[in-house]
Amino acid sequence: MNAITVSAPGKLLLFGEHAVVHNHPAIVTAVNQWLFVTLEKSNDGIFSLIAPDVKINAYQKSFAELTTGEIPLGAQFIEHATARFVDRFPSMCKGIAAKTTSQFSSEFGFGSSSASTVSTLFGLNELYQTHLSSQELFEMAYRVVLEVSKKGSGFDIASALCGGVVYFFTGGKEIRPLYVPQIPLMVGYTGVKTNTATIVTQVEDLKAQYPDRVSQIFDEIETIVKKAEPALLSGDWKTVGDVMNENQIELQKLGVSSEKLDAMCNAARSAGAWGAKLSGAGVGDCMIAVVPDEAREAVAKAIEAVGGQVVPVKTQAEGVRVEKSGFSLPSY
Ligand code: MEV
Repeated sequence: MNAITVSAPGKLLLFGEHAVVHNHPAIVTAVNQWLFVTLEKSNDGIFSLIAPDVKINAYQKSFAELTTGEIPLGAQFIEHATARFVDRFPSMCKGIAAKTTSQFSSEFGFGSSSASTVSTLFGLNELYQTHLSSQELFEMAYRVVLEVSKKGSGFDIASALCGGVVYFFTGGKEIRPLYVPQIPLMVGYTGVKTNTATIVTQVEDLKAQYPDRVSQIFDEIETIVKKAEPALLSGDWKTVGDVMNENQIELQKLGVSSEKLDAMCNAARSAGAWGAKLSGAGVGDCMIAVVPDEAREAVAKAIEAVGGQVVPVKTQAEGVRVEKSGFSLPSY
């Protein structure tokens, strides 16, 4: 085999954002929007990338220069992932041509960076038959995320690898699949792109300033995550909604909500959602709500009426997987 196409799902944090960066658990779900990476072997010592979704048309550099110099934003994770793999298996990988395409916008906060990192490492592992375990892939991918973003708990890497719903503890100390039924989730995009590292730093600064207060909020969030787990497992959406509302209050205390996120959550609740909260770093990106079937239309309209964009997603998405492999793959 000289080429392979793999895909990894997007993700949404259900509970525990920010606290999970500081030694607390979180619960994340994969969603059924996919990022695809095609990798083709070459022997020219060149890494090349075509990624039209992030406006990378014909980027290339020699293996010797990987991770050095100016790297366009859309190439950073794939280039660093390739570099880590080449470092690990220097005599095997002699050149790579990569192409990516995504079903979701990199603006949503669905985790395009983690999905592309995981797809690249998983795909290279399959292409070169290097037999890295899931644990090794997690560690390599998490290292890439820390190299590029400098911050992050790694929950998004675990989600892209495992799919489904995952209970995750900072840095992957615990990664446990939760067998949760299809969640009646509704997702609303604020239209505002968030820079995760900036907001994580903002919360770190708040913690440095008010350590007791912020630790108490993180403890509260952990209690919420622990209440959410059995409710999710049993499909008790009313309780899931209640704990989402509680989680949103703690996130407001951390200063990571916004007028728009609050308006969208309030609109969803008033129109019949069981509960709503922001999902991810906050300030922008998306909010999520759990919504009874009979209220879906009204809740969607209510979210749109306050300026949100409803993004159709389903949970129970599979983790990273091979789509195609062989000697010549159709281009896209
Ligand atoms: C961002 O989507 C979620 C944060 O908890 C950061 C992280 O866990 O890496 C804010």
